Amino acid sequence: MKDLLKLLDLSRDEIIRILDVAYDLKTKQKKGIEFQPLKGQTLGMIFEKSSTRTRVSFEVGMYQLGGTALFLSARDLQIGRGEPVQDTARVLSRYLDGIMIRTYSQEEVEELAKYADIPVINGLTDFCHPCQVLADLETIREYKGGFNGLKMAYIGDGNNMANSLIVGGLKVGMQVSCAIPKDYYPSPEVLAWAEKQPGFQITQNVMEAAEGADVLFTDVWASMGMEGEAEKRARAFQGWQINRDVMLVAKKDAMVQHCLPAHRGEEITEEVFEAHANEIFDEAENRLHAQKAVMTILMEKE
Ligand code: CP
Ligand code: NVA
Repeated sequence: MKDLLKLLDLSRDEIIRILDVAYDLKTKQKKGIEFQPLKGQTLGMIFEKSSTRTRVSFEVGMYQLGGTALFLSARDLQIGRGEPVQDTARVLSRYLDGIMIRTYSQEEVEELAKYADIPVINGLTDFCHPCQVLADLETIREYKGGFNGLKMAYIGDGNNMANSLIVGGLKVGMQVSCAIPKDYYPSPEVLAWAEKQPGFQITQNVMEAAEGADVLFTDVWASMGMEGEAEKRARAFQGWQINRDVMLVAKKDAMVQHCLPAHRGEEITEEVFEAHANEIFDEAENRLHAQKAVMTILMEKE
């Protein structure tokens, strides 16, 4: 593994290894055991979109691993004025030990990784959000003890989270059932792959997807960059929500996860969100541990 660009690139074993290292790093941190394999290293963090969790967890994670992180806003970088990504990649490779990038286009991230000779980590694109879903899988494993026989339900927009949850969930052996409106389907590449895996279902019926689910996910109706479509989407997604009725058809001990930020009253009700707040904020915490694992695996020098 040289980079983390999308979960489709990872084998089941590579995902499980990241989760195992994340668990180990989390345990070390809780016990106050210092572990600094990235001493003297610097991670550059390029942001073309906003962030709370990704920025803070990468920066703190890098610090805890003994290194430093640089926040690089695309508004201030020459990349924002049109400097080719190929050149940015080769220049940053001379200064840094790793790059985390949050941007719009997956192709830009793939191009950056192609030209960089240091690891590149995808911190969210319009196509996927692999770091988030690694943290999500870590949280499910913590609460449920494993993945075998579990049913994941995803309700809402077929966006970057849907794409990554479908791939991540199926790769670790969960059943994945999605309720997504026809006009907002996940990426064709993800669907083509998912339809060949056992345990995948996509429906327009929220209750059918949620029925017997062990873990339910949703995400915002309008992702970053879709602000112009927000009103149209708010109308299209009415009813595509995790609420009390949906929870009644899921398993009694079902978990609810949300990558955050959440829009209460839209994709999830206040009541369900608050009833599952512990799980949701454990999920947010696990970004730190999962990303420390990714950085350790990709960046630790022999
Ligand atoms: N979930 C997530 O990636 O949050 P941020 O947008 O705050 O980084
Ligand atoms: N789908 C959301 C996820 C935010 C973490 C977005 O892209 O805005």
